[in-house]
Amino acid sequence: MTGLFITFEGGDGSGKSTQASLLADWLTASGRTVTRSREPGGTELGLELREIVLHRRGHIAPRAEALIYAADRAHNIATKVRPAIERGEIVIQDRYLDSSVAYQGAGRVLDPIEVRDISLWATEGFMPDLTILLDLDETIGRARLDEARTQYDRLEAEENDFHSRVRAGFLALAEAETHRFLVLSATASIESIAEAIRARVTPLL
Ligand code: ADP
Ligand code: TYD
Repeated sequence: MTGLFITFEGGDGSGKSTQASLLADWLTASGRTVTRSREPGGTELGLELREIVLHRRGHIAPRAEALIYAADRAHNIATKVRPAIERGEIVIQDRYLDSSVAYQGAGRVLDPIEVRDISLWATEGFMPDLTILLDLDETIGRARLDEARTQYDRLEAEENDFHSRVRAGFLALAEAETHRFLVLSATASIESIAEAIRARVTPLL
């Protein structure tokens, strides 16, 4: 069987982990071997990098931040994702390089193309077969998070204006690569989103 690399993208609280789990369960039930990963933090090294980039106190220079995400990504792809795909597995991952372009590019300090190029260098150009973008108004995503928790990481603590630029960044990426992306409104019911994802994945199996 050929391996597949499927990534979930979208703002915080858009339902990525909910849908990644449902898709993984469905694929496992149909007999496929599924590996789950996430960025930042899909590997042991990645967990340490995640702690630094999301929770370390104090300023991190924008280029340093972008390079930490890229380092996490390089290690995740080289040691976990690529080997799993070579074994014919399906890798389902929360966030990938589109998150770097949308978030690190949204601060207006870094050039989105340079951010993307750093990730492409880090992963030797490794791209997903399918990227599911769960599109959500940033104020709704924030409300969902407020219900679910009391602590926010560095990016969640950013203002709504930042998150609306992130959202626009994701939509622009999807528009530029329509063949790779499936864009779904994250306000639909959990089950109807899951069904639309299964319909898109089925022909790839
Ligand atoms: P993410 O991984 O994108 O941050 P989660 O999957 O953790 O998002 O979901 C964030 C919150 O929103 C959770 O409480 C989850 O139960 C809820 N949620 C997920 N999908 C939906 C949906 N389609 N409609 C309403 N609430 C949802
Ligand atoms: P995530 O693990 O989705 O957060 P949680 O599970 O706590 O909701 O992502 C953590 C944060 O990392 C998220 O706010 C977006 C940010 N991020 C970037 O800024 N750049 C990146 O390249 C990646 C992968 C994530």
